[in-house]
Amino acid sequence: MPSSDASPASRVTLDAHALNRLVDGLVETGYFVGSDIVDAGLCRALHDEIRTLAAADALHAAGIGRGDQHRLRRDIRGDAIHWLTRESQAQRDYLQLMAELQRQINRALYLGLFEFEAHFAHYPPGSFYRTHLDSFQGRANRVVSTVLYLTPDWPADGGGEMAIYATDDATRELTRVRPEAGTFVCFLSDRVPHAVLPTRHPRASIAGWFRRNASLGGTIDPAR
Ligand code: OGA
Ligand code: MN
Repeated sequence: MPSSDASPASRVTLDAHALNRLVDGLVETGYFVGSDIVDAGLCRALHDEIRTLAAADALHAAGIGRGDQHRLRRDIRGDAIHWLTRESQAQRDYLQLMAELQRQINRALYLGLFEFEAHFAHYPPGSFYRTHLDSFQGRANRVVSTVLYLTPDWPADGGGEMAIYATDDATRELTRVRPEAGTFVCFLSDRVPHAVLPTRHPRASIAGWFRRNASLGGTIDPAR
């Protein structure tokens, strides 16, 4: 979906105060939830885009596991995804904002984040994603996870919250995040168990991961 409208630079500026809270959250609890990382105009453009992708049948069922371990498991996760490339101005703006966030997290925490990958995700009514970690300790190629929600006016009875659990007890729920447009979550990929509770309303988001270029058993990290 190429778009020629040049976006103002202010679209991709990180608010310094929000950034400080994000870094503090990662250090103190392992996670951060805020609504002042991505501005409303960019969220709307990204939401328009995932609706266009859905209408064009450009989303595909998400699986679990990488490379030849990849499996479709609708009993574990029920979303349909489309990886961000840089095919639209909105994608470029979001990826540029995440590149800036990567720089700032590295500056503050020396995590050695090296690249960012992300996909749009659409959860149809009735779908969910069971409790999981985004990477496993010792093989932590995904270091920091992000989720940006895109659905405006999320209904009070819509379900679909993201549940965040204690790092040492994946049954102890710490908080539930309503997937309202503009809400941004970020957390340590190998420490924070989380789930998408069953949704009753079409749910749009972008899930993304900052990766470290860890090599596994002498092979370079498999892509995705
Ligand atoms: C994921 C994930 C959470 C969400 O895609 O790995 O946990 O709230 N997403 O969409
Ligand atoms: Mn996850």
